[in-house]
Amino acid sequence: MSKEYNVAIAGATGAVGIEMIKTLEQRNFPVKNLRLLASARSVGKKLTYKGSEIAVEELTENSFKDIDIALFSAGGDISKKFRNAVVESGAVMIDNSSAFRMDDDVPLVVPEVNPEDVQKHNGVIANPNCSTIIMLVAVAPLHRAKGLKRLIAATYQATSGAGAQGMDELDIQTRQILANENIEPKAFAHRIAFNLIPHIDSFYDNGYTKEELKMLFESRKMLHLPELMVSCTCVRVPVMRAHSEALNLEFDQDITPDEAREILVNSPGVTVIDDPDNNVYPMPVDATNQDNILVGRIRQDISRNDKRGLDIFVAGDQVLKGAALNAVQIAELL
Ligand code: A2P
Repeated sequence: MSKEYNVAIAGATGAVGIEMIKTLEQRNFPVKNLRLLASARSVGKKLTYKGSEIAVEELTENSFKDIDIALFSAGGDISKKFRNAVVESGAVMIDNSSAFRMDDDVPLVVPEVNPEDVQKHNGVIANPNCSTIIMLVAVAPLHRAKGLKRLIAATYQATSGAGAQGMDELDIQTRQILANENIEPKAFAHRIAFNLIPHIDSFYDNGYTKEELKMLFESRKMLHLPELMVSCTCVRVPVMRAHSEALNLEFDQDITPDEAREILVNSPGVTVIDDPDNNVYPMPVDATNQDNILVGRIRQDISRNDKRGLDIFVAGDQVLKGAALNAVQIAELL
C-alpha cells in the first residue's frame, strides 16, 4: 500500500484553508488523518472532507503530534508562533504567509518554477506571494528559453487576497452602494466597490509597497536571478478571487510572440488563451476555479527597436494556484 500522511491545516476555516481541504480531496492526496485547526472562536464548527464531517479544533502547541505535513494559512504571526511546535514534532510546515519566505534556510517554491529547491528544507517550506506565483508560472518557461533580464508588472488583484473578510467587503459594499446606504471600509483602506486601490500591504520609504517588493525579491529567489530587475505597481480591484497582471518582459535573446506561444502551450500549469480577433484573452472570471494560469495578449513590445521585449496578460485564481493549490502541490513534491 502506498504511504499515507497525517495532515493538519492551520487556518482551516479561512478562505484559503477551505480551499486547501477541497484541493486535498480533489487531487486525492494520500491523507490518513486530517486535523482542522483554527482559533478558539471556531471550535464546534464542522467542515466536510470526502463526505465526512471533521470538527475544527483550537490551534495550540500540542496540535502537531503525529502530524507529517502542516499547511499554514492563518497569517504570519501565527506561523511564527507555531513554527517550533511544528518542526519539533517532526512535521514539515508549508507556510502560506510571508513570515519566512526570504529566509536563507527556507525554500520558496512553485512546482512549475523551482521544484528542486524543495529538497533543501529544514522543516519549513514557504508558499510564495499569490501575485508572484501567478506571474512566474507564465514567466519561468520563457526565462528558461530566452533568459529574463527585466520585468515590469501592473497587477489587478482580487479581494480574496485579503481573505474571507476581503471578499465579504466587496459583496456587502456593492449592495450598500446600489441601495444608497453608507459604507464603512474595514478590510481595505478605502471603499473597494466600484473603485480600485493602488495600495496593497504597507508602504516603504522608497514609495513601493511591501506587496510590490515581494514580487521583486521572491522572483529573484525562485528564478535564482539575484540581479533580476523588477518594478511593479500592485492594485486592488473589485474582483472576487482571481488576480490579473499586465507584464512587460525583457529577455537576453530575441523572442517573437509565436515563439512565446509555442513555449507556453507546452508549459505545465499554463493555458494559452490568445485569440484577440474573437475577443478571447485571459479574464479573472474565466480564471476563477481553474488550476491553470491563463496567458494571452502576447505581443512584441513596440516601444523597443529590437525583438527582446514582450507584453503579456495573465490571470489566475488567487485562492487556488495563488495559495491552496500551490501549497498542496508542494506537499505532493515532498
Ligand atoms: P477563525 O475562523 O477561527 O478566526 P482568512 O484569511 O480567510 O481571514 O482566514 C484566516 C484563518 O486563520 C481562519 O481560519 C482563522 O480562524 C485563522 N486564525 C486567525 N487567527 C487565529 C488564531 N489566533 N489562532 C488560530 N487560528 C487563527
